[in-house]
Amino acid sequence: MSPILDPNREFINKWEMYKLLLCHSINNVQIPDTQLFSRESLSSMLIQYPLLYIKPIDSWGGKDISTFQQDGNSYIWTIQGQEAIILHDFNEIYHQIQQFYQDKSTIIQRGIPTVRFKDQPFDIRSHLYKEMNGSWVYAGDLIRIGGKGSIVSNIEISNGSVKPTHEVISTVFPTSNHTFSTEKLKTVSMEICQMLDQYHFFTEVGIDFGLDHLGNLWIIEVNTDDTQGAPDPYLFSLLPDQSSFNQIIDHKAKIYEKWMRHMVDSFEADKKEKRQEPN
Ligand SMILES: Nc1ncnc2c1ncn2[C@@H]1O[C@H](COP(=O)(O)OP(=O)(O)O)[C@@H](O)[C@H]1O
Ligand SMILES: [Mg+2]
Repeated sequence: MSPILDPNREFINKWEMYKLLLCHSINNVQIPDTQLFSRESLSSMLIQYPLLYIKPIDSWGGKDISTFQQDGNSYIWTIQGQEAIILHDFNEIYHQIQQFYQDKSTIIQRGIPTVRFKDQPFDIRSHLYKEMNGSWVYAGDLIRIGGKGSIVSNIEISNGSVKPTHEVISTVFPTSNHTFSTEKLKTVSMEICQMLDQYHFFTEVGIDFGLDHLGNLWIIEVNTDDTQGAPDPYLFSLLPDQSSFNQIIDHKAKIYEKWMRHMVDSFEADKKEKRQEPN
């Protein structure tokens, strides 16, 4: 099974990434059951799981994400930032969801049984970059907390906030009775980057993790650099400690400088070669 790298954006979409993560079975992390959106997958996953997330395979920033659940004979569909739509007829609500996503390729993912921070959804973002020698560096992690009433933790779309990981962890797990550790977060993140190296030369990776009530890590999404940009380093500028942010920005500047030097060198070499050409 080889992942399909989008030829224009040069990224691995959410569906291909899910299949990749599944076949590489990374230790110490759970991967939420995911299927392509269809009438059948929606109805069968609804029987298996109390909450479903529906997402286009190539969107970002929490855009067009919705949740779907059943309460007795009511079906509840909530698009991020909008009032929930409640209907009693499965076919009718399926039709509305299908109309909303139209021709976009879309996935349904089991809602991760996440722990919440002050009744808000949150996720952990880890950020890694590739050094010139090809090795991965773990730049840091933080927690994004979704705004009031949000189903996502992307801060811009939900008017959310960013906090240091340890601050949120010590609030949601006041005792040491949980499995979360920063070391585990680092190891899993590193392993994902090394796995990705087998498929494409990515240079920056930002991973979104969910955390369950025991402190177990779940992979929500793996973001990489592509032709449209890279995982947002500015999230780290919102932390009281600026060291991760400075580290990422310094690295970007170093890469840019190296690239510029390479361009100038090849330009000079080209000029020299032309001068030496016999008339
Ligand atoms: N399966 C899920 N279970 C729980 N929360 C989820 C799930 N999928 C997404 N979310 C929430 O929605 C946010 C955005 O989802 P994500 O897949 O990262 O899409 P995007 O590319 O838009 O960031 C996540 O950061 C998380 O807060
Ligand atoms: Mg995300």
